Amino acid sequence: MTTAQEFVPDRARTLDELKAAAPSCKGCDLYQDATQVVFGRGDAHARVVFVGEQPGDIEDQKGLPFVGPAGHLLRRAVDKAGLDPAHIYITNAVKHFRFELRGRRRIHKTPDRVHIEACRPWLVSEFALLRPEVVVVLGATAARALIGPSFRVTQQRGQVLDWPAAAQRPADFPVEPAKLVATIHPSAVLRADNQDIAFDGLVADLRVVAGALR
Ligand code: URA
Ligand code: SF4
Repeated sequence: MTTAQEFVPDRARTLDELKAAAPSCKGCDLYQDATQVVFGRGDAHARVVFVGEQPGDIEDQKGLPFVGPAGHLLRRAVDKAGLDPAHIYITNAVKHFRFELRGRRRIHKTPDRVHIEACRPWLVSEFALLRPEVVVVLGATAARALIGPSFRVTQQRGQVLDWPAAAQRPADFPVEPAKLVATIHPSAVLRADNQDIAFDGLVADLRVVAGALR
């Protein structure tokens, strides 16, 4: 299996250096149809790092993570939970948009395991530089990348877990032990039957994040 590893600079000292190398990545086939790579962004000294799934349609066009509808909802939830949006970093488990064409529309397609595994070296390198205190896992794909396939977000959301101790997967993340809080993906809030209840649940989980900051 090819991965992003050979495209990730060995000794990047800054997130900007990593980001500058990302457009060259051919670690999996997703770069072929997407418009551009969408790297993480935010405070390089953030204590809280959010990890989503992959860029959506709008993110793919703009080249920035969480700038579409899910991003707006997340921003509202972050504000309501009392987290300072200037002091977070936000990224995705997979850095190219995966979609299916239906007519002219590009329909989001969940990344497969191969994409998550291939793209992991970017995430690992971001974490090595960021050394977050609290990791926020947004939905199942991020949970797969950071914890392992048997983690169930619906059952374990909103709990403060020790990470990577709680993770089943090899701890290749060169990080200090951190706290991890999983929650539902903001796109799932947008799809929920009762959006208000789902939104309040997301905010409640993010309040747990705020409380976990030492
Ligand atoms: N959903 C994600 O997981 N990430 C984005 O950047 C946008 C939507
Ligand atoms: Fe590289 Fe990740 Fe894009 Fe695949 S999705 S080409 S591994 S940046």
